[in-house]
Amino acid sequence: MRKNDLHPDIYVPVEFEGIIAVSLPMRAVIQQIMEAASSDIPVLVTGETGTGKELVAAAIHNRGKRKNKPYVPVNTGAMAPELIASELFGHEKGAYTGALDARAGLFEQAHGGTIFLDEISTMDDKTQASLLRVLEEKIVRRVGSVKDIHVDVRVIAATNENIDEAVEQKRFREDLYYRLDVFRIHLPPLRARPGAVTLLTDHFVSYFDSIYKKNVRAVPLGTYRCLRRYPWPGNVRELKNVIQRAVLMAKGEELTPDLIPARIREGAGSNSDSQVLPIHLGMTLQAVEKEFIQMTLASTGGNKKEAAAILGISRRALYNKLKRHGLLKEKNHGTKRGLSGKIRGATEGVESKD
Ligand SMILES: Nc1ncnc2c1ncn2[C@@H]1O[C@H](COP(=O)(O)OP(=O)(O)OP(=O)(O)O)[C@@H](O)[C@H]1O
Ligand SMILES: [Mg+2]
Repeated sequence: MRKNDLHPDIYVPVEFEGIIAVSLPMRAVIQQIMEAASSDIPVLVTGETGTGKELVAAAIHNRGKRKNKPYVPVNTGAMAPELIASELFGHEKGAYTGALDARAGLFEQAHGGTIFLDEISTMDDKTQASLLRVLEEKIVRRVGSVKDIHVDVRVIAATNENIDEAVEQKRFREDLYYRLDVFRIHLPPLRARPGAVTLLTDHFVSYFDSIYKKNVRAVPLGTYRCLRRYPWPGNVRELKNVIQRAVLMAKGEELTPDLIPARIREGAGSNSDSQVLPIHLGMTLQAVEKEFIQMTLASTGGNKKEAAAILGISRRALYNKLKRHGLLKEKNHGTKRGLSGKIRGATEGVESKD
């Protein structure tokens, strides 16, 4: 990630293989990714749409011992049903009308590496049965062939549906489920990740600012506020799209709330729009640090443990900084009263879950 123009030198978001993980639940996810990468067992990644399941699967591969071998993502839900078998397992010449040449399937292509089976809950019965066979016997047979081909492939699967329910309702084979659900990584929805909206916003602003060669340098507090109040059913993907559009449309140095679609702004107080996060070039590092600490506390609803985790410092270090910046009355450690009026203002309306 390039240097962040919004908060120069102040924070380094916890970034792992392109995954920004600032909240405690996401840090736990990073830990699980590292554990999964150090072994070769099947992994099942679950989580709502847009929570980053594809990023996690790729990270496990890229950090594991198969990293220099193929990584093959597969979404059978997006394939024509009559072609799934030939896509996955390959075919011989003339196996069906249109099979002009023999072709290796995705499993063969992934040999030595990893296959990422996305949206597994949409897989039809027939594909489930043949997949089970491959996983059990580690051999594939091309359509129209009698020859068994050995494949050494690590399997990572993902679903945004409740897979346990699909098994209960017999829509998904239980035996296949047990083969896939060996090590499970669940991605929490964005609305359950404290502080994540603020820092992901900064990350995407920097990213799209650089791609579109814009000059966005600040995100007003009012913008953060309406972004934090929205429940993000489409999770990080939805936030990313909203920021992409906002940066693209931005005229000046600020990402003002009017650049955020009305459906997301709805519910945010109208007077909040005038508050601007006062960070700009030319400020001292001390002043920037103070503003940034205030902003982080605002994003955690005043929770100092969470804020310290986001800032990458100990709670003690945060207290010391709060004291130094006059943001904490000495005899009032740990209470909201101890914070300056400014922070109280900033935390107003911040939902506790964010
Ligand atoms: N923690 C994160 N940090 C940075 N970018 C993220 C993060 N999580 C998700 N994204 C981005 O959000 C978008 C959606 O992520 P991804 O495609 O992995 O979601 P998904 O869980 O596979 O969703 P679906 O179930 O709809 O397929 C991608 O552009 C991805 O780069
Ligand atoms: Mg996906």
